[in-house]
Amino acid sequence: MTSSFNVHDAAGYEQLMGRWSKRLAPLFIDFAGVADNERILDVGCGNGSLTFALTGKANLSAIVGIDYAPVFVAEAMRRNGDPKITIRQGDACDLPFEDGAFDRSMALLVLHFVPETAKAVGEMRRVVRRGGVVAAAVWDHLGGMPGMRMMLDTLATLGEGGRQLRNRYCFQPTMQPGEMKRTFVAQGLLGVTESQLMIRMDYQSFDDLWAPIAAGEGPLGKFVASLDAAERARADAAVRDAYQAGRPDGPRSFANVAWACRGIVP
Ligand SMILES: C[S@@+](CC[C@H](N)C(=O)[O-])C[C@H]1O[C@@H](n2cnc3c(N)ncnc32)[C@H](O)[C@@H]1O
Repeated sequence: MTSSFNVHDAAGYEQLMGRWSKRLAPLFIDFAGVADNERILDVGCGNGSLTFALTGKANLSAIVGIDYAPVFVAEAMRRNGDPKITIRQGDACDLPFEDGAFDRSMALLVLHFVPETAKAVGEMRRVVRRGGVVAAAVWDHLGGMPGMRMMLDTLATLGEGGRQLRNRYCFQPTMQPGEMKRTFVAQGLLGVTESQLMIRMDYQSFDDLWAPIAAGEGPLGKFVASLDAAERARADAAVRDAYQAGRPDGPRSFANVAWACRGIVP
């Protein structure tokens, strides 16, 4: 299996995560670095949060976004009006590019969905020229996402299925401190540094948070879709109660921390 990502609908993803990855993308680009005239590869581009943010950061010669899921490829293509940007379908573990074809390869919120993470980082290295940069960021599900933990911990109290979901979710590949750095070093990258990037996710209401999950998007969406009607009603009510935390429904804001890692191609 080359991807564990669960997606049905590009608009659902946008509400679940795309609107927040747009906030994270400029921080990630500042961390990864970018310079005029470069060719950049965005691995796992999704709806294009990073791809389109890159155009505002430098006068690049080309940006190529690839994604495994046809639904995202179609949506990113639909959004693209820039002739310097190309979107295509492809697998992070078998990148359809020549050695050294790019100045940088970047992956935003992707590596934890790739079971063969080391293979993907190796491919990201292979397609970057000597002296170029490989960079990636993933959420810290265990310790850096209190809004997500609120939902997972609530679901875990309701049954074994929820406990197993939480246990899987908190320990996806490259999420533990130093784990992504070790993977980069093992793939031969030099001067590897790991850092943390923080954004806030601001919700207008419980439904603003829960609607894409209730519609089946992402790992939590897949889980709640598997519940029977009674379990589902309990889950909806319990997560709503956690969100509201004793106050009327309305806006809530959660901090979110991502691990970011970069290294130089020797
Ligand atoms: C959480 S989304 C992130 C999308 C986008 N980078 C962003 O920040 O919004 C994860 C993306 O990784 C893609 N993906 C997962 N495994 C992949 C693989 N093996 N090759 C290419 N893309 C992959 C998924 O299809 C999905 O678009």
